[in-house]
Amino acid sequence: MSDEKWQDAGDVVELSTRPLQQIMVGRNKVAISFVDGKFGAVHGACNHVGGPLGQGTLDGDYIVCPWHNWKFHRVTGVGEPGFEEDRVPRFECKVENGRLLVSQAAVTSRQRKPHAKHPLDRDTIREPGPIRVVGISTTVMDTDHPRYSTSEALLESALDHGRSKHGLQTRLVKLREKSFRACEGYYSKSAQACTWPCSISQMDAKDGMNDVYENLVFWGDVVLIATPIRWAAASSLYFKMAERLNAVQNQITLKNRVMLKNKVAGLIVTGGQDNVQAVVGQMMLFFGELGMQFPQFPFIAHSRGWTAEDMERNVEMVQNSEELHDGARALLDRCLDLSGRLQAGHATEFRRAGRKASGIEKRRHGESS
Ligand code: FES
Repeated sequence: MSDEKWQDAGDVVELSTRPLQQIMVGRNKVAISFVDGKFGAVHGACNHVGGPLGQGTLDGDYIVCPWHNWKFHRVTGVGEPGFEEDRVPRFECKVENGRLLVSQAAVTSRQRKPHAKHPLDRDTIREPGPIRVVGISTTVMDTDHPRYSTSEALLESALDHGRSKHGLQTRLVKLREKSFRACEGYYSKSAQACTWPCSISQMDAKDGMNDVYENLVFWGDVVLIATPIRWAAASSLYFKMAERLNAVQNQITLKNRVMLKNKVAGLIVTGGQDNVQAVVGQMMLFFGELGMQFPQFPFIAHSRGWTAEDMERNVEMVQNSEELHDGARALLDRCLDLSGRLQAGHATEFRRAGRKASGIEKRRHGESS
């Protein structure tokens, strides 16, 4: 049935059982739709970052991309109203002898509407200048009626020290003051769907994580992360942030792009519950996987532990403990020492073998990595 112009896409009865599907026609991935007795055929790769349009859904005559919801007309390939300059290639199609025939070549070309570049979509080049210190507090509290946070107080002592003793620029990011959406699992659709800048940042101009990305990925050399312990784990806001940082780690998986280079992390963990070492262990694993480095003795912690619930005394103890505040200052000093040496050194080569998604499994099955 195939000739020079037409390719056989399959049995009409079978193809008409589903309103939208992605199939290979010759060498093309094609999104075949069937609505009100009429077939449509457009290229199956979305203009955004290549999402499989034929695996999406239909909104009237528009295909909704399954990755980030861009829409294209199922017959013409033209973007939804307001985005007509975005167009995916259209194929002709016809029914003959019970078979659906699709043109070998697209009859329109792909066209991309120029989209404004997201401010985070830039190279991670360190601006010249002295070491810069970022503190990230993951403590949750009622911002209208603030309370004393032991982890944040120690973080502030360290940042004060950076300014007063070392004359450095510091910034404090309080996650509770940032409004941001939880990770919505784009990675779970496909590694390629988890983008940089984060898919949510691209969709939501007011995304509060932008400030975290700016400071962690671009501005800071030393990052101190402070968390309380909640039921033997870091705070819920810590994990909400960590999940959104998957977009940073995924650049290594997708492109061998290590965005965090020569950056040092120090950790501050306090609370009324036990499990300091496990909390720190998780945090070190995570920030290590992002590419951050740690000084000797990379954390300080304090916990009332298992034997007491007198948290009002805990606050008093931390407030009045010169030792703990000195410990926070010394943690920063260790981070600065390592940071200075990293800035003066050379970047080491990064090899993927043995690392996450290095491609060994794919090669074993005869595919390219
Ligand atoms: S909307 Fe299609 S790949 Fe992002």
